[in-house]
Amino acid sequence: MAVLNLSVNGKKQQVDVDPATPMLWVLRDHLNLVGTKFGCGIAQCGACTIHLDGNAIRSCQMPVSAVGDKAITTIEGLSEEGDHPVQKAWLEHDVPQCGYCQAGQIMTASALLASNPNPSDDEIEAAMNGNICRCGTYLRIKAAVKTAAA
Ligand code: FES
Repeated sequence: MAVLNLSVNGKKQQVDVDPATPMLWVLRDHLNLVGTKFGCGIAQCGACTIHLDGNAIRSCQMPVSAVGDKAITTIEGLSEEGDHPVQKAWLEHDVPQCGYCQAGQIMTASALLASNPNPSDDEIEAAMNGNICRCGTYLRIKAAVKTAAA
């Protein structure tokens, strides 16, 4: 076990954990931030996507010891009132079906738009390609990303 200092959603946090613990489980089990979801655990589905210094990463394969002083943002910290442009576009397009993958989808989309505010269709598809949705909401996801970019 080790005591580690983290910056999560703009707040300093201290956790006492096995340094090999994936960030996903530190968020969910130690910090009670359960918006980030477990899907596959092997970096293949995108359900666990968070931002590390603004970049979308898979938290299921990121040991907490590798985070250091980088800023972690989860779906809970993306906006104060759930009013990030991507979240508003998601509501406008009624994107979710079961909803399980959607926090990861939104975190990937918001990282894309932060680095590329006006992505092409191909760039949206390339960025969102690794986020799996078993309900098949892909067309609405793409439309919502375009709305958020507009
Ligand atoms: Fe991390 Fe699937 S749970 S990518």
